[in-house]
Amino acid sequence: MSVPDPRDVPWKELRALAHEATARSYAPYSRVLVGAAGLTAANTYVVGSNVENASYGLTLCAECSLVSDLVRQGGGRLTALAVVAGDGEPLAPCGRCRQVLFEHAGDSLLIDQGEHRAALTLGELLPHAFGPSDLPTRSTP
Ligand code: THU
Repeated sequence: MSVPDPRDVPWKELRALAHEATARSYAPYSRVLVGAAGLTAANTYVVGSNVENASYGLTLCAECSLVSDLVRQGGGRLTALAVVAGDGEPLAPCGRCRQVLFEHAGDSLLIDQGEHRAALTLGELLPHAFGPSDLPTRSTP
């Protein structure tokens, strides 16, 4: 899998796509609009917006919606990600989304921290993650 140099990531484009995606959020309850945009190893873009529900706990985060877009588009690995709120500023992926992203990216995923701070990796945000490689060795025969 190709791990991009953070300096080669088109962060401006990712931030702009993520911000655009906030315009398609469905967030009538929290009014927190969230958009996510990712770059894949094949150099394609995927996007997502949060989708809330009257049964609050069923809300889909923007990152989950982005992973659906990735799978719908044929799958592949995510290499870089920007998540922003309606103001265009970075928003930290929630714990559940960190795990969902791990499945499709691994530790090396670069996560935008805005213009003035260096990107973090998913390995930094979700250390010692449980993932697909744990299953074959940990299942009871
Ligand atoms: N939200 C996301 O879309 N992604 C996150 O990582 C954190 C939270 C959304 C869910 C809900 O619609 C709103 O933000 C407020 O929690």
